[in-house]
This record gives sequence, C-alpha cells and structure tokens, in this order.
Amino acid sequence: MNVIIDIKSIHFKYPDTINKQLNGVTLKINEFEITTLTGKVGSGKSSILKHIIGINKPDKGKVLVDGKNISEDSNVFHKEIGFLFENPEDQIFYPNVAEDISFGPRNLGLRKAEIALRVINACEEVGILHLLDRDTITLSLGEKTLVALAGILAMKPKILLLDSPGLGLDLWTKPKILNLLKELKNNHTIVIASNDKDFLRISDKIFLIHEGKVKGNYKNYKNFRSGLDRRKDTLKKSKDEK
Ligand SMILES: Nc1ncnc2c1ncn2[C@@H]1O[C@H](COP(=O)(O)OP(=O)(O)OP(=O)(O)O)[C@@H](O)[C@H]1O
Ligand SMILES: [Mg+2]
Repeated sequence: MNVIIDIKSIHFKYPDTINKQLNGVTLKINEFEITTLTGKVGSGKSSILKHIIGINKPDKGKVLVDGKNISEDSNVFHKEIGFLFENPEDQIFYPNVAEDISFGPRNLGLRKAEIALRVINACEEVGILHLLDRDTITLSLGEKTLVALAGILAMKPKILLLDSPGLGLDLWTKPKILNLLKELKNNHTIVIASNDKDFLRISDKIFLIHEGKVKGNYKNYKNFRSGLDRRKDTLKKSKDEK
C-alpha cells in the first residue's frame, strides 16, 4: 500500500485560544482507501482535515501529501484535493446550481465543452441532474451537500476530503452516496470525518481522535467496535478495583 498522506506529529492552536486543539497527531493514509476520522464533538477531526489541504498550518510537525510538505506550497495541491466542508453552505457561492458546480472546472481553465461535460457527469454520479437549473438558495440541506459534492467531483481531484458527508441525506440517498464512494476509491483516496456508522462501515481504516490526538487505529468497523468494547472493559475494571 502506498502512503499518500503522511501526518507527522502535528501540533496546532487556533488564534485567540488558550489550549492547543491538536497535540501531536501522527497518522498515515493509504492511497485508494477510505479512511475515516471519528471521535467526540470537538475532538479535532475537522482541524486535521483542514491541515491536509493546507487551510490550517501546523505550529509544529508537518503534513506530507505525495511526499511534499503541504504548508510550503498548498496551492499546488488544491487541484488534486477536493474538500467537502462540514457545512455545505460554506461551499456554495453562486445563485444557480449549474454555475456553482462549474466554478471549479472553470478555475482550472478548461474549455467550455469540457466544463459542461464534467458538470453533467458529476451531477449524474451524485444523482442531481434534476437540480441543475435551481437557485442554490432554495435547496434543502441534503441537496446542498450533494451540489457541493458534485462541485468537487467536477474538478476530478485524486484525494477527496469529506467533512461529515452524511449531513441532511435521507435513507434513500445515503446508500447511493456510500456506493459512489466505494466506486470512487478505485481511483481516489478518500478521507472522511464522521461519527456516522454507515460511513464507518465502508471504511478501510478508522482513526479514533480524542482531545487532538490519535487514540486508536482500526482496520475496519468490526475491529473498531471491539476496540471500543475493550476500552470500556478496561475502564470498568480499573473503576471496580478502586
Ligand atoms: N476557528 C476556530 N477558532 C477557535 N477554536 C476553534 C476553531 N475551529 C475549531 N475550534 C475548536 O477546536 C476544537 C476542535 O474542533 P474541530 O472542529 O476540529 O472538532 P471536530 O472533531 O471536527 O468536531 P465535530 O464532531 O463537532 O465536527 C474544538 O474545541 C473547537 O471548538
Ligand atoms: Mg468537525
């Protein structure tokens, strides 16, 4: 397995805060796998994803993507990394869906016909062709998530960072997205931040994040569940012994 993202002991504190939010996170992400970061609210999952694309820069430590330090030249990677924001509203800028999804490919300087093709293909993949003419402001939350995802796919990045991708998705749409991710991993590396069991179940690797540190590293959901049960047992034993 080829390691495509190598996070080496990153420490990070947001401005105007007292304590550090990341306290020496070290993890490796393999190419063509689905890796999920899970952990309590506020544990640091989104902050880690933002380091991979260079929105956050580590105070100490480094993030290597394809062997290159992302903090030193983050722009080089924007073409290769797609980031689905935790809140899809942060991602949608244009009043019209088609215009919004074509923003990324337009920025890549592609020709009109290629842009149109990419927009149609991305909408087909995500199942939102029927939304193409809609005003973005009138979309439901789940629809906004799908439009944001299509916008990323239209750029054809090789790494997908998806922060809470299940947001607003229904019982019928979510399985389609899960299947799409399973297909996409044939030629993409996918990193997800989520506490949603359905996303954990399709993961090839799960990292448990706790208070800005990696607390566990599991090879699948079953392994993760039994790891959690073992931690509970150990905690209970040490309480009983007191
Ligand atoms: N811009 C910011 N300024 C100050 N503190 C921040 C900022 N963004 C996040 N934090 C804090 O950093 C910590 C980690 O936040 P982060 O968003 O990475 O958590 P998370 O694991 O993604 O949580 P959730 O499950 O709620 O999405 C939290 O305590 C959060 O309040
Ligand atoms: Mg988050």
